[in-house]
Amino acid sequence: MVRIAIIGGSGVYDPKLLENVREEIVETPYGTVRVKIGTYRGEEIAFLPRHGEKHSVPPHKINYHANIWALHELGVERILATSAVGSLNLDMKPGDFVVLDQLMDFTKTRHYTFYDGEDSPHDRKFVAHVDFTDPYCPELRKALITAAKELGFTYHPTGTYSCMEGPRFETRAEIRALKILGADVVGMTQCPEAVLARELEMCYASVAIVTNYAAGISREKLTHTEVVELMAKKGEEIKLLLMKAVEHIPKERRCPCKDALKGATGE
Ligand code: HPA
Repeated sequence: MVRIAIIGGSGVYDPKLLENVREEIVETPYGTVRVKIGTYRGEEIAFLPRHGEKHSVPPHKINYHANIWALHELGVERILATSAVGSLNLDMKPGDFVVLDQLMDFTKTRHYTFYDGEDSPHDRKFVAHVDFTDPYCPELRKALITAAKELGFTYHPTGTYSCMEGPRFETRAEIRALKILGADVVGMTQCPEAVLARELEMCYASVAIVTNYAAGISREKLTHTEVVELMAKKGEEIKLLLMKAVEHIPKERRCPCKDALKGATGE
């Protein structure tokens, strides 16, 4: 059984630390997903590059539903994700890791639930309003923080992520507004990924990697090239961090994530 998955964001495309990697093709009500599965210290781990192996899928075109459903289908209970972000907080510098604890959703064109009542393309034909007060799993966050500490990496144990529609970068005014609202970092992919995991009662946590200061904070023109370059530089550290975090994930789940549907359907 594959209990742990890694969703790789920008710059994290291959599961190099896994052994005996095989590919599984998973059919879901939302489409087909290719997942790599390998072993690490005897534990089977699934790996999914969110943007495809060659960054060919932009944030608004990612099939978040199929990806999360496929991992659930494989038996995954815990998801560690990575995300490249711009920073609005001068303490969070390019190259730093941020173990996200909060998020705000400013996306506009996405589909945010598995539970579309009678219209759901599967047999969960109900409506659910899950609790999302704390969008990230406390046990997985703790594993990431412990790992970052042990490895001596520069990290921030909390951070508020604001999810923008993209694929363009933000305007100066948008970043000014987001800062007033309390955002620390900005990216384009945590929504609806995080909530879909919660809706299937899977644990989800994300480590953000600051690739640049956000629009108007940076004096330079923002480019995807700088994001790619920084992620390439941090590639080894990201893999070490993820695998060390895997070692710290408790076998048994004692977090609220596993009961997310209790009370969510009104029954
Ligand atoms: N904005 C949005 N997404 C991002 C950024 C940014 O500045 N950097 C990396 N991903």
